Amino acid sequence: MKIFKSKSDFKDYISSEKNKGKTIGFVPTMGALHKGHLSLVERAIKKNDLTVVSIFVNPTQFDNKEDLDKYPKTFEKDVELLESIDCDVLFAPSVSEIYDDNVVSETFDFDGLEHQMEGKFRDGHFDGVGTIVKALFEIVEPNTAYFGKKDFQQLQIIKKLVQKLNLPVKIKGMPIFREKDGLAMSSRNTRLTEEHRKAAPFIHKTLKKARKKIGTKNVIEITEWVRKQFKKHPLLELEYFIIADEKTLQTATEFESKKRYRAFIAVFAGEIRLIDNVRFKNN
Ligand code: PAJ
Repeated sequence: MKIFKSKSDFKDYISSEKNKGKTIGFVPTMGALHKGHLSLVERAIKKNDLTVVSIFVNPTQFDNKEDLDKYPKTFEKDVELLESIDCDVLFAPSVSEIYDDNVVSETFDFDGLEHQMEGKFRDGHFDGVGTIVKALFEIVEPNTAYFGKKDFQQLQIIKKLVQKLNLPVKIKGMPIFREKDGLAMSSRNTRLTEEHRKAAPFIHKTLKKARKKIGTKNVIEITEWVRKQFKKHPLLELEYFIIADEKTLQTATEFESKKRYRAFIAVFAGEIRLIDNVRFKNN
């Protein structure tokens, strides 16, 4: 695997590969890689001539300095994992390579997608994500980029970014990769205490139980039921549970037959904030 830290070296290499007619698949990450990330990379490898992964812990998308400082960094292990699945290229720039000395976000209008859920609870988060993904797309010039449905709101926002700026890249949304006990894989899981790690599968279990209630209970009743389950839980604190329209991400008040819904959740397991979501359909 080729590893680049310099933007200009990386760009020279990529443009020579593109000139050979190669298609580029791209998976942007913040490192601390796990099987969820690797499932995206494997898909990119299958579908493209050349696969680029980026590792960059993007400071402008963190609203909480402690979360940024404590974000897990496992660069050597990440390189080993990527090599083990035959990834072609790793781009791992420094903060100054990307931002020079101006570490600020652009402001975006994502037609309201940015004001829902994570946007409400993490100030400026999606401006930071938009800024870095746009910058990385300009550097990598991928044909297709792969994003996980684990961060479903982020995926919808990236699709909006591409549509609004008319960027020449296809966005593919990939399924959520879970641990055997149902916990959605996340780099932050490694920061859970043993007891919080044991408690965390309750999140996905509750989402699945909530989904079973479609048909017998309405949106408000299901939302209330979920809130109650977390109130009773001694270790997990619910930040939000929302049933929303998949497209607009607006909170639903009732199920309408032609729309697709998804349930979204954010939970504190001790100091660690975990998010998850499931398609909300009665089967
Ligand atoms: P990061 O959290 O490292 O995630 C990188 C990609 O992996 C994202 O598209 C995310 O949705 C996907 N991913 C994470 N956990 C997953 C899982 N369990 N199953 C499937 N896919 C999963 O998301 C970011 O980084 C950043 O915001 C980034 C897009 C790189 C911009 O900085």
